[in-house]
Amino acid sequence: MNRREFTARSLAAAAGAALSPGRGYAATQNSTAPDPGAVPDPMIAQARFPEGFLWGVATASYQNEGAWNEDGKGESIWDRFTHTPGKVRGGVTGDVACDQYHLYPQDIALAKQLNLKSYRFSIWWPRIQPTGVGSPNMKGVDHYSRFVDALLEAGIRPWCTMYHWDLPQALEDRGGWPNRELANYFADYAGILARHLGDRITVWAPFNMPWAIAFMGYAAGALPPSGTSFSDFLKAAHTLALAQGEAHRAVKAASPKATVGSAYEMAPAYPKTDSDDDRAAAARYHAMNNVFFLEAAMHGRYPNAFIGEPPLDVMGFRAGDEKLLYAPLDWVGFHYYTRRVVSDASKEKFQSGGNFSGTEIEGNSPGGRDPYTRFRAAMPTEGPLTEAGLEVWPRGIYDLVSKITRDYNHPIIEITESGCGYLDSPDEEKHGRIPDSRRILWYRETLAELARAIADGAKVRAYHAWTLLDNFQWAEGYTERYGLIYTDFRNQKRTIKDSGYWYGRVAVSNRLDV
Ligand code: FCB
Repeated sequence: MNRREFTARSLAAAAGAALSPGRGYAATQNSTAPDPGAVPDPMIAQARFPEGFLWGVATASYQNEGAWNEDGKGESIWDRFTHTPGKVRGGVTGDVACDQYHLYPQDIALAKQLNLKSYRFSIWWPRIQPTGVGSPNMKGVDHYSRFVDALLEAGIRPWCTMYHWDLPQALEDRGGWPNRELANYFADYAGILARHLGDRITVWAPFNMPWAIAFMGYAAGALPPSGTSFSDFLKAAHTLALAQGEAHRAVKAASPKATVGSAYEMAPAYPKTDSDDDRAAAARYHAMNNVFFLEAAMHGRYPNAFIGEPPLDVMGFRAGDEKLLYAPLDWVGFHYYTRRVVSDASKEKFQSGGNFSGTEIEGNSPGGRDPYTRFRAAMPTEGPLTEAGLEVWPRGIYDLVSKITRDYNHPIIEITESGCGYLDSPDEEKHGRIPDSRRILWYRETLAELARAIADGAKVRAYHAWTLLDNFQWAEGYTERYGLIYTDFRNQKRTIKDSGYWYGRVAVSNRLDV
């Protein structure tokens, strides 16, 4: 992250504190600014979730496991990135993170204590194939096998993301995701996972946030491998979509019980003005950021996210690729954190794209974010901002779930990640308790809107809070805390926050006023 991005994020966090309304997001509780996104208390009290609803958490290997060079694991692009000075805030790494590689029995016991029924985790590819190709490293396979057994013993559904951003460095050295050959390597890896774990795991997703892998990694330079080429972004996106289809088939071939879905990042897009141009820009945002890979899987085609003809030649699209893309999902998984307001920038002269922070907040971008989609997407500040700088906009999850429900003919939906970053820590005056009331409020409001979408007919069967433990937050290092459980990184002590106890009560009662 460069200085300008750093400043933008700090300002966003400061604005969050200043703009927070009286409803409880303010660090000091005396602000009275109006908040158009607030959810009324009676709606929270009346919200109900169906019997059997799967309450869970989501996690990711690099953010939690540590043990970065143990048991034959190869180097990943995140190891390389964090070991490069200047890439991560505070110069920290995920070498140890939450040490979950060793402490997982304790963490699964905590998940059980919170009454969770679904645990979304990811497998670190270079633990299984240290260079991304060839026969599996059985020490890595055995680790995940024990992990899955421990979940099942705790009565928790194991939910596997095959790739949460940790490409074997050796495959990056062969060109990374812009290299089409990676689709086949990825399918081999997916087949290995399904052969060894598919007797117990039935819920699979190939990629966490494929758009971010392609854009933040290859065009925005914000995440590894820090690329800054717009054409590489499109090539990477195409390889990822092909890999999604190939992995789907490889997993189904190896495991008859498998169901395959997704873990897309999505943010509902609202046009900045009522103009036709801004509406069209918001539609392009939705096509590119929300449903690009979903359309590929469901219909074997890309939605038109572009000004003019889709740049299929830049992507390296070949005749017959439609058939490879086509692999209809058994259920649709996506994240919800915040929303975007989108405007058209196609009439301006394109300069150099957006300024991005380590997550995905886009700054000003004359001419648009990239030369193909030509829109500008911003995160508004009408609602309060979390301490991680994202706007609190509970209604967004209702709009998003309702739209996917309508547009994809009422699919089964899983919310794969959803949560907020606040820095609350143990309060010595309260005997070390962590009274993170803003997080509880965030979940109450967001979940009330989700319950409304379910009441209106959306078939949502699971919700995964991001995340179980405070962990390594990518380019932000350890400066953001999203956990229901506090991690003291000096000694690896875990302390359940008030939000964790609250979520545990929600999980048994299917209601929010608990
Ligand atoms: C999402 C990532 C996840 C986590 C949350 C806060 O974009 O999928 O790993 O960092 O943000």
